[in-house]
Amino acid sequence: MKFKLLLVSSLIAIAAMALLASSVNEREAERIALNKAPVVAKADRAKNEAWKKYYPRQYSSWLKTKESGDILDLLKEYPQLPIIWAGYGFAKDYNAPRGHYYAVQSNTNTLRTGAPVDAKTGPMPTACWTCKSPDVPRMMEEDGELEYFTGKWAKYGTEIKNSIGCYNCHSNETGELASNVKYLDRALAAAGMKTFSESTHQEKRSLVCAQCHSEYYFKKTKWTDKDGKEKVAKVVTFPWHNGLTAEGGEKYYNDVGHTDFKNKISKTPILKTQHPGYELYLTGIHGKKGVSCADCHMPYTQEGSVKYSDHQLQNPLNTMDRSCMPCHRESETKLKNIVHEKYVRKTTLHVITMDNLAKAHLETAKAMEAGATDAELKTVRDLIRSGQWSWDYAVASHGAFFHAPEEVLRLLAVANEKTMQARILLVGVLASKGVFNYTAPDFDDKAKSQKLAGLNFEKMVAAKMNFKKTLEAEWKKYANDKGTYQSEVYKDADNQSAYFKK
Ligand code: HEC
Ligand code: HEC
Ligand code: HEC
Ligand code: HEC
Repeated sequence: MKFKLLLVSSLIAIAAMALLASSVNEREAERIALNKAPVVAKADRAKNEAWKKYYPRQYSSWLKTKESGDILDLLKEYPQLPIIWAGYGFAKDYNAPRGHYYAVQSNTNTLRTGAPVDAKTGPMPTACWTCKSPDVPRMMEEDGELEYFTGKWAKYGTEIKNSIGCYNCHSNETGELASNVKYLDRALAAAGMKTFSESTHQEKRSLVCAQCHSEYYFKKTKWTDKDGKEKVAKVVTFPWHNGLTAEGGEKYYNDVGHTDFKNKISKTPILKTQHPGYELYLTGIHGKKGVSCADCHMPYTQEGSVKYSDHQLQNPLNTMDRSCMPCHRESETKLKNIVHEKYVRKTTLHVITMDNLAKAHLETAKAMEAGATDAELKTVRDLIRSGQWSWDYAVASHGAFFHAPEEVLRLLAVANEKTMQARILLVGVLASKGVFNYTAPDFDDKAKSQKLAGLNFEKMVAAKMNFKKTLEAEWKKYANDKGTYQSEVYKDADNQSAYFKK
């Protein structure tokens, strides 16, 4: 009897083990199949949903980037900004970044891209689409890079509809990490660095992000098309020629004589920094130790025996167990508090600097009104230009207070020093014109500042809403009918902006 019992239980154990082994084998087969890349058809490479059947986990986690859709109106948060950026698109509308799912819609909704009425109107060039969509490398391949960079933003409204996705970071033929744009390799070469394909696998886990999370400008480039027609392209170019630093970028722009806009209030020729996230990350301790962007923002996730990268790119403080704890021994709360402290330190200096910059612009305007000449204001404007560049460089990429805290505080200190020097000189210039104890007007709310910047908010919003009803609706219909995008996938994307809420 005892023997029989033993036999039966052994048989059960063997059967259970066999079952387990077969399910392990199955999962192993699945793992291999998932990591070996099936080819995504070339015609469908920009459609994220076309990758879904091969990579369901990466796709469904990518789709979750829609969970971060709230609008944080930074002009409301910091009403100094419309003064600092008077005369430039950012004074009209500027929000904190949201999930990748929203990129095309955020770009279409922002008042910065205006209200074109056809393919040839509107304030922005095609280059504005560049870091928003996998349709961008597709159009560069179909039309040629220079044709892609020629013309108005609205030219590609019908084509660029899928939001940042698989074909921005992967090859559709091998599934491997890839950079499908040429300007990143050009920038790496200009900086004397390895190209994307020469880089290590770990470096590529950050370089895919560097395609977009980097400082750039639109370099005017003359070219002749195949019909012999002369054209001017505005080509996305990273100012990395003197190194990936704030000072290196500033020298590059000064050497080529580049200015993004003239501040409408102070007439200062300004450089607008665009999120140098990758550059600043390199100066921080994690960058120096070789921790990649994906290590924190795309942590590995275990599902049964399948291990995959979480494609819900978001704030890593939401995934600390997977993003930080593989390396750190402190408690999550303690680490979170350290990050918060860094944020508070940065914000203290950040606000002081913006107050100083806004006042410097307004005091310069007062000096002009009192009769100061451009020659008398030359040094003042040079200092404001340089200080503003340094400030913007420190804060424009949002995460740098954590990625590179020392460098951010250094840049803000430099920015403050230069701006204060300008303001001290301004006291002298104003006094020489008989103006004493001048106090700049208040800029403590968005509406007031936008008025000081000469903007008519209601008018901009009305034009935008009209654009959304007409041209944008046509774009969506066109792409949906043509099958280059499936409007259903993005149905949750049109929900918010700083000027209308559903
Ligand atoms: C912003 C860049 C980016 C986007 C967008 C992106 N990926 Fe990835 N993907 C990565 C990185 C980084 C890795 C990690 C690669 C590694 O270390 O091998 C990765 C890994 C993968 C892997 C290998 C297995 C794994 O999970 O580590 C697959 C498969 C994959 N991605 C599919 C997709 C699909 C499908 C999409 C679109 C729905 C997509 N990816 C969008 C950057 C991206
Ligand atoms: C094709 C360009 C592109 C690539 C590649 C890209 N990003 Fe982004 N990223 C953006 C844009 C644009 C936004 C802002 C989207 C919006 O506000 O609608 C953004 C937003 C973000 C955010 C804010 C998300 C949130 O929920 O607030 C994070 C974090 C981020 N990106 C990290 C990364 C990392 C890490 C990589 C590389 C693995 C990467 N991105 C690759 C363009 C890109
Ligand atoms: C791949 C490993 C790795 C990951 C992942 C990682 N760290 Fe670190 N972290 C390091 C290393 C290495 C240092 C350098 C200090 C050291 O050598 O102990 C460091 C230093 C730090 C410091 C102190 C330096 C400073 O800037 O003040 C903080 C804070 C920190 N990490 C927070 C985080 C947080 C938060 C996350 C997750 C979002 C994270 N780390 C993810 C490896 C990692
Ligand atoms: C050591 C972990 C770690 C690494 C490495 C890292 N990040 Fe971050 N990132 C964070 C944390 C933590 C935050 C701050 C979140 C917050 O604001 O509370 C952040 C914030 C951001 C933000 C701002 C998001 C927002 O909505 O304000 C962006 C964009 C971003 N990171 C992109 C990148 C890119 C691109 C790289 C690589 C060049 C990178 N990160 C490398 C941990 C990391």
